[in-house]
Amino acid sequence: MTRASTQTVRYTRVAITLHWLIALMIIGLLAFGVLMTNEAIPNRFALYQWHKSFGITVLFLSFVRLFWRLGHKPPPLPDGTKGWEIAASKLTHIGFYVLMIGMPLIGWAMVSASKLPIPTVLFYTIPWPNMPGIPRDEGLEDLLKLFHEIGGKLMIALILLHFAAAMKHHFIAKDGLLSRMGIGRS
Ligand code: HEM
Ligand code: HEM
Repeated sequence: MTRASTQTVRYTRVAITLHWLIALMIIGLLAFGVLMTNEAIPNRFALYQWHKSFGITVLFLSFVRLFWRLGHKPPPLPDGTKGWEIAASKLTHIGFYVLMIGMPLIGWAMVSASKLPIPTVLFYTIPWPNMPGIPRDEGLEDLLKLFHEIGGKLMIALILLHFAAAMKHHFIAKDGLLSRMGIGRS
């Protein structure tokens, strides 16, 4: 990323649309994930198919987003952006891409390894296969469950960090950084 000598500009319309669509879905997935694994919640099993459906949708959209990102450079950062801020944002963004693709893959592998052969039917319409090459194995399922749970916690931590950074730019630095993702004027 380079630094701009003038004011900030935006990501492409495609990148902005994908950013908010995926962000909304991920926040829903985290909430559904926590709710459906809480035994006190009634009818929680109905949430599983929705969780799996939106999770696989995030997988598809994140690949589209990654390919788009590789072909379109982000707009230059505002003047005065410090070296450590560039490094921190790069690390956070890479972490997000790893989790946006890694979490659904782990989830898919986990249900494929499950001893309970509950079929995955996306949006109650599209039958989704098990992940090729994954055996039904309780030990593997438990391990993947643990990874999925840790991944969820990492995702929440990254979102909090990312949100705090966005708020710092908006309310303290007042450098119009939010407009890069379509919020407010460029
Ligand atoms: C689940 C939630 C979210 C995820 C996974 C996420 C992910 C990302 C990623 C990967 C980027 C880098 C863009 C790229 O290079 O493709 C980005 C940029 C950005 N996000 Fe988010 N985001 C989330 C929520 C939010 C929220 C809640 C806000 C603001 C309130 C926000 C504001 C921004 C802004 C302003 C940028 C541009 C920053 C820059 O160019 O340095 N994001 N986000
Ligand atoms: C970005 C995508 C995803 C996110 C952020 C996410 C997040 C979560 C979270 C936070 C939990 C609760 C973990 C716990 O506290 O035990 C969970 C549970 C679960 N997720 Fe996901 N998930 C995603 C994708 C998927 C996908 C694609 C599948 C399957 C196709 C899946 C299947 C499951 C299952 C079966 C559970 C319950 C595990 C258990 O019984 O402990 N997830 N998910």
